[in-house]
Amino acid sequence: MNTKRNVLYKTLGMVLLTAGLSALSACEKSDTRSAGIMSAQSMGVAFAGENKSDAVLSGEELYTRHCQVCHSMRPPAKSAPPILGLASRFRTVYGNKDDAVAAMVSFMKAPDAANTSLGPQAIERFGLMPAMSMPEDELEKVSGWLWDQYDPDFKPRGGCR
Ligand code: HEC
Repeated sequence: MNTKRNVLYKTLGMVLLTAGLSALSACEKSDTRSAGIMSAQSMGVAFAGENKSDAVLSGEELYTRHCQVCHSMRPPAKSAPPILGLASRFRTVYGNKDDAVAAMVSFMKAPDAANTSLGPQAIERFGLMPAMSMPEDELEKVSGWLWDQYDPDFKPRGGCR
């Protein structure tokens, strides 16, 4: 793909994504969010590493491609808890990377309210996360990346974080 087209696709993608996401209020569940997600994905929105196959993507690139549409890095939240909040929460609950990654991977394969590592408020506020149909090694890679985003200066807030 030549560079000009690349840029064009990226711009188009961002416009669509912005349009989709601006339909969402940062703090409310909304029926429009799946519409926003669908339009971004069905248009083949270009993200970081767009020309690579998933297998060679880094954890961060996997996040950009598969998670960012719902999870912002930091507040304000999109349609899911921000990554820094999750990283902080998983540190507190598990204390070590292996157990935290195992919990994230098993949750993402089959999200279940009985299995959440977050408090009940997260699912009440955002709804249950959809299952991620990604290979296990990619789920592990992106979960390891998420764990590494921990920032000791980030203070999770209650309510609309
Ligand atoms: C369609 C929106 C959406 C996408 C895409 C998405 N998530 Fe989520 N995720 C959510 C929502 C909503 C929650 C909060 C409710 C819950 O825990 O189920 C959540 C919660 C989580 C949690 C906490 C799980 C727990 O213990 O409750 C982790 C970890 C997570 N997401 C990681 C990811 C990663 C990594 C990706 C990309 C591979 C991703 N999510 C993609 C919506 C999404």
